[in-house]
Amino acid sequence: MSDTSSQHPHGSPHREPDRAKAAARGRGTGQPPTAGAPAAHRWPTRPERRADAAAVHALHAAAFPTEDEARLVDALRRDPEAWLTGLSHVAEAPDGSVAAHALLTRCRVGGAPALALAPVATAPAWQGRGAGTAVIRAVLEAARARGERLVVVLGHPGYYPRFGFVRASTHGIRTSFEVPDEALMALVLDGSDEVPGGTIRYPAAFGV
Ligand SMILES: CC(C)(COP(=O)(O)OP(=O)(O)OC[C@H]1O[C@@H](n2cnc3c(N)ncnc32)[C@H](O)[C@@H]1OP(=O)(O)O)[C@@H](O)C(=O)NCCC(=O)NCCS
Repeated sequence: MSDTSSQHPHGSPHREPDRAKAAARGRGTGQPPTAGAPAAHRWPTRPERRADAAAVHALHAAAFPTEDEARLVDALRRDPEAWLTGLSHVAEAPDGSVAAHALLTRCRVGGAPALALAPVATAPAWQGRGAGTAVIRAVLEAARARGERLVVVLGHPGYYPRFGFVRASTHGIRTSFEVPDEALMALVLDGSDEVPGGTIRYPAAFGV
């Protein structure tokens, strides 16, 4: 992995080297799941509500090494060009608290509208129990139902293929900054063969 991957759309560029490397090597927080959670909890998911904003902020601040992703979500929420109502989903813990969050915002690929999946996080106490999977599936399904066609993600290459993501480069999709090829992935929601290739233009809040 190269240090030229020093910018990616999970936060501000100056904080990116550690995070980009962490994403590339698939690092979570390293904290074990909390004992006592039901193993078969089915993780109800729903679109975020206004009252969830603080909990979502706290979740990202706890799950990532810095508060950058938490601030990124807040900034995206304030950007009417990026924010799409109904494409920010949470998974609820058994006590009703927010256990996981996944966000899709409007980006462009080669000029065509697409969605960026970022950030995604599960609260450290709930990691490894399916909450992340549930909330990502839910938000992707919501996007599909809205007729969205394409989602891109920059993240753990061992995690996102289970949702159908493939290397973005196979569709001719790239970033304007250098990233490990396997970390940039794309999902064609409508199964179409005609995927717009080109460079991803992220919402301004990503700072890339
Ligand atoms: C990555 C993250 C969102 C996954 O959520 P989760 O609720 O813990 O994951 P789930 O329980 O749904 O899925 C567990 C699976 O994900 C895999 N997984 C979890 N973290 C992973 C990582 N960092 N890299 C690759 N795979 C990972 C596990 O190996 C497990 O695989 P298996 O089902 O084959 O056993 C969560 O660990 C997290 O918030 N990490 C810190 C923040 C972060 O890195 N966000 C993603 C940025 S791309």
